[in-house]
Amino acid sequence: MEKESYDLLFKLILIGDSCVGKSNILLKYLKNEFDPNSRATVGVEFGTKNIIINNKKIKIQIWDTAGQERYRSITSAYYKGAKGCFIVYDITNSQSFDDIIKWYEEIKRSGDKGVSIILVGNKCDLENERKITIEMGKNKAKEMNCPFYETSALSNIMIEQVFKSMCEDIYNKIKSEKKDDDEDDDIEIVKDENKIVNINIEAKPKKKCCK
Ligand code: GTP
Ligand code: MG
Repeated sequence: MEKESYDLLFKLILIGDSCVGKSNILLKYLKNEFDPNSRATVGVEFGTKNIIINNKKIKIQIWDTAGQERYRSITSAYYKGAKGCFIVYDITNSQSFDDIIKWYEEIKRSGDKGVSIILVGNKCDLENERKITIEMGKNKAKEMNCPFYETSALSNIMIEQVFKSMCEDIYNKIKSEKKDDDEDDDIEIVKDENKIVNINIEAKPKKKCCK
């Protein structure tokens, strides 16, 4: 079997309450698919994608886990080595917005120093059911000193951009550490070898997510 080669590996993680759409954000980004009946994640899944930044082949590994307390098996291994973390809430669910602080504290406590964070308000296609205004999202992100995006996994709004922004941020941090800044920063997708791997060995939950 051919050995896979890449210059850098970025581990990214998705956190946030159950049903905010973490798994669908991942699914949309990696496979351009959406699952209206997705089940609550059990254990941990991860997907991979290769991108090129500045002529460097970068493998991104995106980890997804359960937001639901009873299925959560988050250990320090989930956070360990993550260079980027998306804290996701649902713009139609106030509780998920209130819980951001809990997730923020968790990543600060368990994540690596210098992890890049992006706040993501998902389901922005549901404008009629909106509970959290864009302004509220922006203010929260300001408090956390991180970028803010509203996304829709359903309508494919800002999904690609949020990952691109994360990778650029991480890359620029690495580059500034290495003081190597005379090349251009274009990001492009090289290969479609995206896959999602379930590394959970527990049984699937009987209940649908959000039901
Ligand atoms: P856990 O695995 O339990 O932590 O949930 P999750 O955050 O992974 O949520 P999931 O992706 O399973 O989505 C939950 C529900 O919201 C599903 O019914 C999805 O179809 C729906 N959903 C996800 N993203 C969107 C979106 O952008 N818009 C709309 N309208 N629905 C969405
Ligand atoms: Mg999930």
